[in-house]
Amino acid sequence: MTTALEKDRVLIFDTTLRDGEQSPGATMTHDEKLEIAGLLDEMGVDIIEAGFPIASEGDFKAVSEIAERSNNAVICGLARANFKDIDRCAEAVRKAAKPRIHTFIGTSPLHRAIPNLTMDEMAERIHDTVTHARNLVDDVQWSPMDATRTEWDYLCRVIEIAIKAGATTINIPDTVGYTAPLESADLIRRLIETVPGADEVIFATHCHNDLGLATANALAAVEGGARQIECTINGLGERAGNTALEEVVMALKVRNDIMPWHTQIDTTKIMHISRRVSTVSGFPVQFNKAIVGKNAFAHESGIHQDGMLKNKETFEIMRPEDVGLSGTSLPLGKHSGRAALRDKLNNLGYEVGDNQLKDIFVRFKELADRKKEVFDDDIIALMRSGEDAENDHLQLVSMKVICGTGGPAEATLEMEIDGKDLSATAQGDGPVDAAFKAVRELYPNSAHLQLYQVHAVTEGTDAQATVSVRLEEDGNIATGQSANTDTVVASAKAYINALNRLIVRRGKVGEGADTREISYKDAT
Ligand code: KIV
Ligand code: ZN
Repeated sequence: MTTALEKDRVLIFDTTLRDGEQSPGATMTHDEKLEIAGLLDEMGVDIIEAGFPIASEGDFKAVSEIAERSNNAVICGLARANFKDIDRCAEAVRKAAKPRIHTFIGTSPLHRAIPNLTMDEMAERIHDTVTHARNLVDDVQWSPMDATRTEWDYLCRVIEIAIKAGATTINIPDTVGYTAPLESADLIRRLIETVPGADEVIFATHCHNDLGLATANALAAVEGGARQIECTINGLGERAGNTALEEVVMALKVRNDIMPWHTQIDTTKIMHISRRVSTVSGFPVQFNKAIVGKNAFAHESGIHQDGMLKNKETFEIMRPEDVGLSGTSLPLGKHSGRAALRDKLNNLGYEVGDNQLKDIFVRFKELADRKKEVFDDDIIALMRSGEDAENDHLQLVSMKVICGTGGPAEATLEMEIDGKDLSATAQGDGPVDAAFKAVRELYPNSAHLQLYQVHAVTEGTDAQATVSVRLEEDGNIATGQSANTDTVVASAKAYINALNRLIVRRGKVGEGADTREISYKDAT
């Protein structure tokens, strides 16, 4: 009740396991629900809506077990406005240290038409069901579904009935995401001012995101006097979802100067639970999602990266550590500058001089033009592929491959071998085989291919493939590696790289060194 609640405290009611699970396709298993409930409890959520017990045997079991295991949070179940639902819900939350029944009915004209109840009949139903729930538990939440499209007088009338019947929390759902911030604040404020007994209960806000306003509407409702926000992790929920827990909690934390309310959420747990919910629900988090998106603490442009390296506050209003991230990410892309590349190289353990940086920067930009995002592994691959390149006997100048269905693959390679330009075309069983055969035509050798391995070291279809090739020749072993967004190019380069190392090894083995003449096939 408001009287017992600190004036500035906002309760966080999480409904990921109920409204969130109602997102089409977001079903979670029993064990996954228990895990998420445990994480919510641990992070300090005040009320966990664990499910809709009458909906299925699975929901009933999940709510019961979550209730039994709960440590701190109130455990709540949902029930429609009938005794059967309410009894089942009471049974499910029975073992919770702090049980709550949340019962609701649609009060707007559109929703009243479905059970075909008159206003009076519905008012009576609300009285009877809330009274029944209150006889079963001390903590009863009541919701007039579609409140934001319910006639003002009728809304006040039914809320008063619910309060008199014993509801301790009155939730005002914007079921279809129809309201806007000013209206949301005003509605709660006027209800608290108007409805008799309103100061005896907690008003809650439950906003859907159909217009992308759910978080703004929820915060505005707090401004109007609501002291419970209903939300879900990652904003999961029916249609466009609900208010996102991470957004309201961080907004209250970051802008406490203009929104002087607080929650008891441990924000450092946010990223972990967000990732778990995304995994178990199968709902990926959009890259640019506030707080928990992959890019929320990532800066790519040269100006931003340079600013971030000088002072993090230039482009960040909260610390990544506050939401449980280890730090800011400065992903390298085509907009990145030299400062960010040098910083990344240093972090990866490479100390480079100005000239070397210049050279790497050119190759990095070439790669960044081809790839959306350049990852750490790309940089490592770039550094490795640059090693020894200048002194190589064999260099790939260009290659073209024709492959597909209906016929053998064909590769045409142009190579520079000890300063001479040569080219050859070969056919093979697939593009890599054709490319290797073309290399062998240009540089005949008896090296035996011991290993050929492709690793897609980065994410996405434009990933850089790193290819490893191991060759053996008369007991000498040489390994070559190359990375490229084109796997066949990376393969040819890795093969050539291994041959170059083999040539070096031949020179180093002294007595038994291979002194065979290298025969070239002249370019035509
Ligand atoms: O959106 C809604 O109206 C609901 C109710 C059940 C509270 O989820
Ligand atoms: Zn809802």
